[in-house]
Amino acid sequence: MPITSVPSSHQISYMGVQALKSSHPQVRKLKRQQQGHSAHGNKVWRSSFVLMDYLSDQAIPQHSRVLDIGCGWGLTAIYLAKQFNANVTGIDIDASVEPFLTLQAEINDCQISFQRRSFESLTKSELAKYHSLIGTDICFWDELTVPLFNLIRRAISAGCQNIYIADPGRPPFWSLADQCVAKLGADVISRSIEHPWKTEKYILRLGGE
Ligand SMILES: C[S@@+](CC[C@H](N)C(=O)[O-])C[C@H]1O[C@@H](n2cnc3c(N)ncnc32)[C@H](O)[C@@H]1O
Repeated sequence: MPITSVPSSHQISYMGVQALKSSHPQVRKLKRQQQGHSAHGNKVWRSSFVLMDYLSDQAIPQHSRVLDIGCGWGLTAIYLAKQFNANVTGIDIDASVEPFLTLQAEINDCQISFQRRSFESLTKSELAKYHSLIGTDICFWDELTVPLFNLIRRAISAGCQNIYIADPGRPPFWSLADQCVAKLGADVISRSIEHPWKTEKYILRLGGE
């Protein structure tokens, strides 16, 4: 079904990004072709919209290389590619997110590179290629706190300029945030948006403003 013939209730338009919801026929078709997702990369997550809103105030250089860790459907990555001509790579441990990321990128006329990778597998020399590192809703299990802290530490020592992790404020996120504030000089801010939902999220940030 052509995108244009689908009711707008299946699609969100936000800050120049078109996001297809789980109910969208093309998303539903992809879901039918798959066995299911392993770790929640299976819908539009609100933190990604709050991070888009926050990034709209940041001085992100055009054509920056950005890494979206645990990218899922990659909507923040798409926002950066569209608004800042960023060259974004999304990594996710779950290979099944890739067709959804590709579909969302296609309807937005942009390209996001995808690698099936874990947080743990990114080396310092790989991280050195990126100006910024972003992640949304990625610290949802206690077991993710240590790998993410170690990844952030490697990224800083590799020279990444900005790191932004947005989250609803789950306990593992606060544990990660507390360590990053105490040991790495990070801070945490709250950020609210009114549309497409009224919601408040938290952004752990290193570098930037
Ligand atoms: C709640 S989803 C959020 C997806 C996306 N960031 C968003 O906001 O729409 C969490 C994502 O993290 C990925 N993930 C979980 N553990 C991971 C790991 N160790 N390495 C890489 N990705 C991981 C999952 O596969 C999933 O796609």
